[in-house]
Amino acid sequence: VEHRPLYGKHVLVTAGPTHEPIDPVRYLANRSSGKQGFAIAAAAAAAGAKVTLVSGPVHLRTPLGVERIDVESAQDMATAVREALPADVAIMVAAVADWRTRDYKGEKIKKRGSAPPALVLTENPDILASVAASANRPELLIGFAAETGDVVDNARKKRKNKGVDWIVANDVSGEVMGGSDNEVHLVLEGMVEHWEQMTKQDVATRLIEKVGEKLSVDA
Ligand code: C5P
Repeated sequence: VEHRPLYGKHVLVTAGPTHEPIDPVRYLANRSSGKQGFAIAAAAAAAGAKVTLVSGPVHLRTPLGVERIDVESAQDMATAVREALPADVAIMVAAVADWRTRDYKGEKIKKRGSAPPALVLTENPDILASVAASANRPELLIGFAAETGDVVDNARKKRKNKGVDWIVANDVSGEVMGGSDNEVHLVLEGMVEHWEQMTKQDVATRLIEKVGEKLSVDA
């Protein structure tokens, strides 16, 4: 138990971006390398958990002992997450695209005429909020928040609005995107922890340690 604090637990992690196809050759996406989510999946597996990692398109190897489900779009990710539940813990790290095109074109859009085409967008499902509201809500539900200002304030609001237990917030106005370091604030009920800059691996290890402590307190 010392070394495998999450033994017997199912941990669901989402990671990476989503790609929202416009036509067969083009897509809309958020920036995300998937590094932070993959590091969290790896740390959870190392702590003894059964880990399901639902990943958008990334160039990363599947961590040892992790079951990986690859998806493209937010809608696909929502379905995969629903099917992966129930879980004891869900950590939603994916940078899900907020919008997709309303009218997917089955044929490549041609550059004909002078005016570029107008894209009409429609809202994607909020996967985290729907997990929070579902009958299968995990005992511990953790979201991420990438912000470029008012990081902690926005994260506090997000925690409330989405109905999640913890928010890991980071300021992405610097070089976090694609890099190996991260500097985060962990927003819990009634308190905030600021973690100094460290590697994404160390953020993952520390977060999974906290998850283990939380589950043992509640047990
Ligand atoms: O609202 P915002 O996108 O900033 O929220 C970020 C958090 O919500 C992340 O945990 C992200 O994985 C999750 N999310 C989601 N589905 C969406 C949008 C965000 O699960 N459509």
